[in-house]
Amino acid sequence: MEDFFVIKALEDGVNVIGLTRGSVTRFHHSEKLDENEVMIAQFTEHTSAVKVRGKALIQTSHGEVSNE
Ligand code: TRP
Repeated sequence: MEDFFVIKALEDGVNVIGLTRGSVTRFHHSEKLDENEVMIAQFTEHTSAVKVRGKALIQTSHGEVSNE
C-alpha cells in the first residue's frame, strides 16, 4: 500500500495541487487549505506528483520539509 503524506497549512490559502500520472502531466485537482488545516493523501494511479503553493509543513516517509 502506498504511504500517506501529510500537509499542514501554515497560512491561509495554501494550495495542494495534484498532477496526473502518465505521459501527459497536468493539474487535475487543487485543494485549498487554511491555516492549521491538514490534508492526508497518497500517490495513486491518477496522481504521481503534488505541488504545494504557500507555506506548509510536509511530512513524508522520506522526511519532513517546510517551504516557509
Ligand atoms: N482522485 C485523486 C486520486 O485518486 C485524489 C488524490 C489522491 C489527490 N492524492 C492526491 C489530489 C493528492 C490531490 C493531491 O488520485
